[in-house]
Amino acid sequence: MFIYPPTLENIQAAAQHLRSGHLVAIPTETVYGLAANALDSTAVARIFAAKERPHFDPLIIHIPPHLANLPDLIAAQILDGVRLTDIAKERFLTLTQAFWPGPLTLVLPRGAAIPDLVTSGLDSVAIRCPAHPVAQALLTESNLFLAAPSANRFGRISPTSAAHVESELAGRIDFILDGGVCTVGIESTIIAIDPDGALWLLRPGGASIEAISQAAGVPVLRPIQNTTNTQKPQAPGMLSSHYAPRTPMHLLQNRLCNLSDDALQHLWTFYHRPKTLGVLIVNAEEQNTTQARLLALGVERVWVEALTHHDDWTQAAQHLFAAMRALDASGAEILWAEDVDKTPSLAYAIQDRLQRASVAP
Ligand code: TXA
Ligand code: MG
Repeated sequence: MFIYPPTLENIQAAAQHLRSGHLVAIPTETVYGLAANALDSTAVARIFAAKERPHFDPLIIHIPPHLANLPDLIAAQILDGVRLTDIAKERFLTLTQAFWPGPLTLVLPRGAAIPDLVTSGLDSVAIRCPAHPVAQALLTESNLFLAAPSANRFGRISPTSAAHVESELAGRIDFILDGGVCTVGIESTIIAIDPDGALWLLRPGGASIEAISQAAGVPVLRPIQNTTNTQKPQAPGMLSSHYAPRTPMHLLQNRLCNLSDDALQHLWTFYHRPKTLGVLIVNAEEQNTTQARLLALGVERVWVEALTHHDDWTQAAQHLFAAMRALDASGAEILWAEDVDKTPSLAYAIQDRLQRASVAP
């Protein structure tokens, strides 16, 4: 058995495991992370091996709560005090006061203590202070900076429970700390702070973009993709295919309840009339009707997973990855995911995950 409840004894054992260069899967409020001592490149290399993660994809460093301030981060050479401008420092203070501990990752000039492997050789580093009490207890107990990507194999669905981690990484790691089901359910929002104080959205996630912009008093800029002009590029590692179930998943342009019977029939025909179908819908209110309508078309078996009730996006984010896993395990030959709204920002973050999880129609 390698899933351990978060007793004081187990947290101390996990801290010792990390100090000796080994990996521990840890709960955070967003998703489970696969942690190693960020300043030990041999330990960090084990993360890449266990996940089969390509080395161009940099890691986020998790900061112990007692060190989550500028003087300590500069003194520990996590951040580069020389390259940090006054306006960038001001943005850091405002955003960390408003969002830390929590699901906001900040990208800033990288300090000299960080091995190249962590940042894929970039001169910036991504840092966050997680809010989950077990993550906080482990960071405090170990007094280590922990590099931790999501604890799934590369490109697959992120884990939001200890059992998910086990199904992704069994045989590759020997220590999972169980902190229950993640309350946010999708990864942190990643924001790069430029020397001129501009904020760039590198990944939508658990922290609201509107709230970030409001706290900082400046807009959050969005990098333009696929251009050759001077716009800042997307975060490395933000691949178009990610979070993917094994079963081919198709993101629809509508919600099924908005389609007429004819339109539903056309959609089924467009996808070559699959006999078995898994469907990810937004609202549980539509679950029974959706199932009945698809069976009436002639689909032999239908599995429907709903994200939430009444467009509650907080709850939808919590359920997203578990619902995708359940559909993937159903045995359906293809999966459909309903269109999710593009606003507010939590819905946008969910839509981003679905887009990357799905194959072209
Ligand atoms: O919520 C989360 O952020 C979770 C939990 C475990 O904390 N972690 C997570 O890590 O999602 P991961 O490895 O799945 O995503 C890390 C992403 C990279 O793919 C890249 O897009 C971005 O963070 N990133 C890391 N360092 C960066 C840097 N220096 N510049 C730009 N983007 C960076
Ligand atoms: Mg990930």
